[in-house]
Amino acid sequence: MGSFQVELKKWVDDSYEIEIGFGLQQQFIKDIKNGLVGEIKKFAVITDSVVKDLYAEKIYQSLLEQGYTADLFVFEAGEKSKTRKTKENIEDAIEDAMLEKGYRRDCCIIAVGGGVVTDLAGFVAGTFGRGVPFINYATTLLAAADASVGGKTAVDTPLATNLIGIFNQPEKVYLDIATWKTLPKRQISSGLAETIKHACIANKDFFEFLEENIDKILAIDKEACEHIAEENCRIKYKVVMQDEKESGLREILNLGHTVGRAIETVSDYQLLHGEALSIGMVAEVSLAKKLGYVTEEEKNRVIALLEQAKLPVVIPEYIDREKLVKKLYTDKKVKNGQLRFVVQQGIGEIVEYQENNFAIPIEESVAREIIMEMK
Ligand code: GLY
Repeated sequence: MGSFQVELKKWVDDSYEIEIGFGLQQQFIKDIKNGLVGEIKKFAVITDSVVKDLYAEKIYQSLLEQGYTADLFVFEAGEKSKTRKTKENIEDAIEDAMLEKGYRRDCCIIAVGGGVVTDLAGFVAGTFGRGVPFINYATTLLAAADASVGGKTAVDTPLATNLIGIFNQPEKVYLDIATWKTLPKRQISSGLAETIKHACIANKDFFEFLEENIDKILAIDKEACEHIAEENCRIKYKVVMQDEKESGLREILNLGHTVGRAIETVSDYQLLHGEALSIGMVAEVSLAKKLGYVTEEEKNRVIALLEQAKLPVVIPEYIDREKLVKKLYTDKKVKNGQLRFVVQQGIGEIVEYQENNFAIPIEESVAREIIMEMK
């Protein structure tokens, strides 16, 4: 009898470019022709029923015109589609349809859409044939601010959001700001919640910029939007570069998400992700105030900015608050049954609770009090 050591030490270069601009479809095709994904000639364009007609169809047609093999895979728009079922096969199947159409490992997946599309397509890409390359072409502010950058991919389950997934980095990310013009106002606000989160975490000047320019952003002013796209990226990629797999610092990106994700699930996705996050940020800035990390004035500024962005800041009547408290335990930051919250320090910084530990253990009674006290 003997034993064997399987040596698998790795050095992996998963670096990629994020391109920000107004109308990037031609640039995308140019990059493919210039070998962005090497010799691959087969592309699965994954999108949802809304983005299909707006942008994905055009990208798919351009690939065909350039002589590539391409297929369009479309699923029903909305967070409710971010499930394992959609991933494998519903009537608008992804994986099974790809297999039926002869897709194997020699393909590349192009995600064209918002956060649900980039999360789902990135997850399919990481598991299809044990992994094929993918590209994110983000068409929403929410995807630009958060979902398309950083390699987190996942699906939701009935119990909670994003619990089943993988870290999988794309080959390139396109943040096409021109696409924000076709977004419903509610979706712009939803994306602004992640933007305000970034400002609260890392940059007080950016927070002030948002206070002064929110109306311009809501009207999709080119310069203001380019600035927020760049700032969002800068804040996010700096964190991801230091802690890709969320073993410490990356937890700060979860500010507002403990209550946010729970309320999103309890609302049965009636609340958009950013709307739920906004309410979650109100809960967490209230906790920060209770713990002495922000002043009353700072707390009110955060809530006022969320309101300026036309986001909800109160818990809707139809939410059962006891159910919400229970749901907090499905959060990924829960350790040994203990609730843990990321908490901001003033505006633009996060509390480092212990070295490289950015989530503070909180007793259920304190969390309950915060939720019960919220209007
Ligand atoms: N959405 C939080 C993160 O990417 O870590």
